[in-house]
Amino acid sequence: MNTKRDPAKVPQDLDDLISALSEGERTTYNHLMHAIKFAPSIFESYTSWSESCYTRNCIVDTEKYELILICWCAGHSTPIHDHDGEECWVKVITGVFKETIYKENDTGVLQFEKTGVSKTNEVTYMKDFMGFHSLENISNQKSMSLHLYAKPIRKCRVFDAASKTFADKELGYDTRAF
Ligand SMILES: [Fe+2]
Repeated sequence: MNTKRDPAKVPQDLDDLISALSEGERTTYNHLMHAIKFAPSIFESYTSWSESCYTRNCIVDTEKYELILICWCAGHSTPIHDHDGEECWVKVITGVFKETIYKENDTGVLQFEKTGVSKTNEVTYMKDFMGFHSLENISNQKSMSLHLYAKPIRKCRVFDAASKTFADKELGYDTRAF
């Protein structure tokens, strides 16, 4: 008996999304991240909140991909960072986010490229050839975003504004669901 899910069906819940990601090729991930429409309540058991910094809450971590819920308080933002050569999709679950993109010029100096604003159910995509980015919760309330990394990202380069240099940063989770 073939128990595989119908790949044409849009996942209706997290278990279904995880099955789709696990069974599908990476070329299906962009469509999946755009197609899903999840009520914020389905993430309730994965949330954690800190006034001092956004939290990274691992929903699932496999060799192929990792799915993370990031919980942001008003005003929280990431440093400028890259993605260790991997693909990154960010879907807004609640709130409004500003993404700022930078690129290194020929002499290695980081230069502003553009900004974009994304709202509930919108998706942004990032890979290192596109440059570096930072994300900021620009809503005035707690917000959530769903991050898909393929493959998982264990470290990234983070820009230090004071010294104007990059440093490697190990990435961990504030909570994990397993
Ligand atoms: Fe990022």
